[in-house]
Order: sequence, then structure tokens, then C-alpha cells
Amino acid sequence: MSEPIIIAFLGKGGVGKTVLSALMGSILSAQSRKVLFVDADPAMGLTSALEVSDIKTIGTAREEIIRQAKISNSSEEKERLADIVDYLLMEALYEGPDFGMIAMGQTNTLGCYCPINNLLRSTIKEIASQYEVVIIDAEAGIEQVNRQVVESVHYPVIVTDNSKRGAQTATMISQLLKKVPQMAPVKVGAVFNRVIEADKDLMNIIRNAGMEYYGNVKPDPAISKLDRHGTSIAKIDITSLAISGMISILEKMGAFGQKIKTGK
Ligand SMILES: Nc1ncnc2c1ncn2[C@@H]1O[C@H](COP(=O)(O)OP(=O)(O)O)[C@@H](O)[C@H]1O
Ligand SMILES: [Mg+2]
Repeated sequence: MSEPIIIAFLGKGGVGKTVLSALMGSILSAQSRKVLFVDADPAMGLTSALEVSDIKTIGTAREEIIRQAKISNSSEEKERLADIVDYLLMEALYEGPDFGMIAMGQTNTLGCYCPINNLLRSTIKEIASQYEVVIIDAEAGIEQVNRQVVESVHYPVIVTDNSKRGAQTATMISQLLKKVPQMAPVKVGAVFNRVIEADKDLMNIIRNAGMEYYGNVKPDPAISKLDRHGTSIAKIDITSLAISGMISILEKMGAFGQKIKTGK
């Protein structure tokens, strides 16, 4: 099993995690890298932002597994559970021409079921190992990602805007990252989204909290237009402001080398 590079977008609600996840993944996939998106938002924002439909969620798969676990009493049947997990997860994997995707859906409705979470997580890891990059839209927060998706995120990208509250949330998330066991990020960085220029004072708050400033993405009419028509963010014009912003963010992040090109 090879190790993919794992990136997760975190931050205050509405700040642009979903859009930036989609943009980064699209750029990397246009470079012919194998990208797996993980939509960890119960409302499935990324799934819809990339126009993926008819996806079976991990939450649904998990409920089926729990049901099976409750009715299997003999040890033989319990052994079969691992196969069921594999099967249900493969059903939950969307494989498109440009990227793969799994959606977590509603995963907290039935309590912890930690052994099942662990079983699911190890199967997600197996799926992820088929990809070079995993991009997680971590709307539900880093603890849920750690419990239900992957133990470690190499590059948490904290999204903020020019608001004090955004910076405070970013600071809180960066502190939380240090407390999550086995998270061990390579680098923790922040992105200012939907701003012409990042506010200097807010940037200082970010830096003082130990985050690296990766850059900003400007308000982009191309995103608003795609939004208006419900068109996939992946279809964004490569000459748009948001793409050039994201390319310099990727370069600053440094996970894929210092020079990022667009196009196949
Ligand atoms: N740079 C941008 N330019 C224009 N609109 C943007 C930009 N970033 C995000 N948006 C819009 O702002 C809204 C919130 O973004 P979204 O990615 O859904 O936030 P989050 O996932 O953090 O809740 C969406 O309608 C999105 O299209
Ligand atoms: Mg979102």
C-alpha cells in the first residue's frame, strides 16, 4: 500500500472550504494525479459542488453494517462482517473519469460503535491507498475526520476570511489539531478566501498561532456564476482568479513541488 498525500480543509462555516476543496482537487487532477475527494459534510456540499449524484454514503453503509453486526451472533458470521464492510464501502466509492469520491453523510446518528468505525476507517485507508491525493472537505471538524475518516492529515488547510471570528476559529482549530492523537501534520497553513487582500492584523493572529500563511483567493465572479447555475466547480475556467490563487497556495504548501502547472 502506498501513502497518499492527505489534505483537509477546515474553518468557520461558509468561509469557502467546499469551493477550495473542489478547486484544489480539480487542479491536481488536471495534472493527471489520482485524486480522491472525501465529503465529510453531512449536508454533502462537496458532492453537490462537483455534481456527483447517486452516491451511497458511508453513513448508510455504516447503518447496514451495524444492523448486520446486531444479527450476527456466531463467530463465523462476525468474520464475514469484514467482507461486508469491504463490499459496502466499494459500493460507496464513486469513480468518475477525473476523480474518485466518498461521502460520509450522516454518521453520528447511531452513537459511537467504535469497532465499526475502526473497521470502516481501515477500509477507507485501503481505498485511499489507490490514490495519490486525498482531499477532505472537513466541514464536520477535525475530530470527526480523525474518528471516522483518517487518523492523520498531512496538510490541514484552515480557511478564513477577513473577519476576527474567522481568525479566532482558525486559531481554535490549529490548537485542536495539536490535541488530536496521531494527527502529526507535516505543515499547518491558512488561506484567506474571498478577499482582495488578507488583512495584516488578522494575518498576524494566524501567524502567531503557528499557522503558515499560504495566500488568498480573491472573490471570483466565475465561482458565483457556476454557483448560480449549479454547475460543477471543476468546470471553472483555468484562467480564473480563483485558479491562479489556488495555484500559488499549492506552491506555497510545497506538497507537490514548487511549481504547479495547469492543464492535462
Ligand atoms: N473566492 C470566492 N469567490 C466567490 N464566491 C465564493 C468564493 N469562495 C466561496 N464562494 C461562495 O461562498 C459560498 C460559501 O462557500 P462554501 O465553499 O460553500 O463554504 P463552506 O464550505 O466553508 O461552508 C458559496 O456560495 C461559494 O460558492
Ligand atoms: Mg461546505
